[in-house]
Amino acid sequence: MSGTESQPTLLLTGASRGIGHATVRLFSMHGWRVITCSRHAFPENCPWPGGRENHIQLDLADPKSTIAATEEIKKRLADGKLQALVNNAGISPKGPDGERLDTFNTDLADWGRVFHVNFFAAVVLARELKDQLIAGRGSIVNVTSIAGSRVHPFAGAAYATSKAALAALTRELAHDFGPHGVRVNAIAPGEVETGILSPGTEKIVETLPLRRLGLPEEVASTIFFLCSRDSSYVTGTEIEINGGQHV
Ligand SMILES: NC(=O)c1ccc[n+]([C@@H]2O[C@H](COP(=O)([O-])OP(=O)(O)OC[C@H]3O[C@@H](n4cnc5c(N)ncnc54)[C@H](OP(=O)(O)O)[C@@H]3O)[C@@H](O)[C@H]2O)c1
Repeated sequence: MSGTESQPTLLLTGASRGIGHATVRLFSMHGWRVITCSRHAFPENCPWPGGRENHIQLDLADPKSTIAATEEIKKRLADGKLQALVNNAGISPKGPDGERLDTFNTDLADWGRVFHVNFFAAVVLARELKDQLIAGRGSIVNVTSIAGSRVHPFAGAAYATSKAALAALTRELAHDFGPHGVRVNAIAPGEVETGILSPGTEKIVETLPLRRLGLPEEVASTIFFLCSRDSSYVTGTEIEINGGQHV
């Protein structure tokens, strides 16, 4: 299955669960072709049209494999155009007993792994697919986090700093891609009901202005907005999706 002039193509990292899963479903529903990347094989329990053929099994923690995968992705873009890139895959490791990994107890290998998945993969994909994004007058959306702008009780130091770096990268990419007609934005979720949440999140939720967790679908709809013509003059920004957690 390949994208055509009338069928825009999205490259989405981390589609197998959570926010990514809701995003692939929403874009598919709107007729997009979605190329997905994650470590596991295509999830048979939640199929979408063309899902298996459009899935690339890839560990974004491995920079060599990530660079190699961009060649495969280019081959799969029959018309050489990519209309959207959503850097959604992310990891938030915890200690052996589920404890928060702070600046004292995170080892260097973990810092590296987190930065490769959460940050460097976005650098590689944007840079290697630059020509395809420009040809498609595309849109890039980076999935950051509320933890990128404040200390979070569960998200670790490597995770938080990788998300802060991704927010800064969003500005840099928006500056560099803008003259080529490519928009670049970020979305910063708060507490969204997925497997990444830690026990104890319900305590945070009690303090939120909206008093509830966000749903993956509520994040996906903002990603879709940022990849659509409805946001055609929006670039270089980070949208908070957190039920008011930042106020
Ligand atoms: N849920 C929240 O409350 C929340 C809040 C703030 C920010 N976020 C951000 O939102 C994004 C999605 O989070 P989520 O809650 O939906 O997470 P999730 O349910 O844990 O899903 C993470 C996704 O990333 C993929 N992934 C993980 N490591 C990977 C690797 N090394 N290479 C390739 N793919 C990898 C996973 O697929 P495989 O396992 O198959 O690799 C999975 O599809 C993340 O960037 C996260 O930091 C989430």
